[in-house]
Amino acid sequence: MYEGDIASVLISQEEIETRTAELAESVAKRYPPGAPEGDLLLIGVLKGAIFFMTDFARALSIPTQMEFMAVSSYGSSTSSSGVVRILKDLDKDIAGRHVLIVEDIIDSGLTLSWLLRNLKTRNPASLEVVTLLRKPDAIKIDVEVADVGFDIPNEFVVGYGLDYDERYRDLPYIGTLDPKVYSSGS
Ligand code: PRP
Ligand code: MN
Ligand code: MG
Repeated sequence: MYEGDIASVLISQEEIETRTAELAESVAKRYPPGAPEGDLLLIGVLKGAIFFMTDFARALSIPTQMEFMAVSSYGSSTSSSGVVRILKDLDKDIAGRHVLIVEDIIDSGLTLSWLLRNLKTRNPASLEVVTLLRKPDAIKIDVEVADVGFDIPNEFVVGYGLDYDERYRDLPYIGTLDPKVYSSGS
C-alpha cells in the first residue's frame, strides 16, 4: 500500500500495541473504578487520534466513556499554523467529570495547549492528557502531559491516524513520509 511513499517504518504495529498496553496500565492505576465522579471520560481528538483512542480504550482495564472533538491546526501543510478551529464540539457537559484527552501526536503543542485551556473553562473534576507520540524538538508551547508513548525525531510521520493531506491514516504502523511526496506539490 502507498508504494514508495513511506521512507521507513518508525514504529511498528507491534511496538504500538505493546506501548499502548503499558500506557493503559499506568493510566488505569490513577483512576480507580467506582469514583463518585463516574466513569473516566476519554476525549478523542479527531481525526488523528481515532485508532489510538479505540485501541487505548480497549486496553484499559477500567470502564470509560467516549466523547470526540474535532479541531484542526493545519490542513494539507506539513507545519502547524498555530490557528486552532473547532470543527466538532463535545456532545455532552464535562463539568465534574474526570477527563482524559487522547491525542495521537504533540508536534508544536499548539493544538493541545489551546484544547486544555478550552476544556478547563468547562470545569472538569480533573483534566489530563495521554498522547501516543511527541516531538520534543518541535515544541513551541510546553504542555503538561502525564503519559507519552514515544518521543520521536522532528520528521514528518504518517499512519495509525496521522495524515498528510488526509492520506495514510489507514496504515497500521507509524512511518516517515518520503520527502518527494510533499515536495512535488501534488
Ligand atoms: C494534528 C495531530 C494533532 C496536532 C498536533 O492534527 O493529530 O492533533 O496536529 O500538532 P500541534 O502540536 O503542532 O498542534 P491536525 O490538525 O492535522 O488534524 P487531524 O487530526 O484531523 O489530522
Ligand atoms: Mn489531530
Ligand atoms: Mg492532520
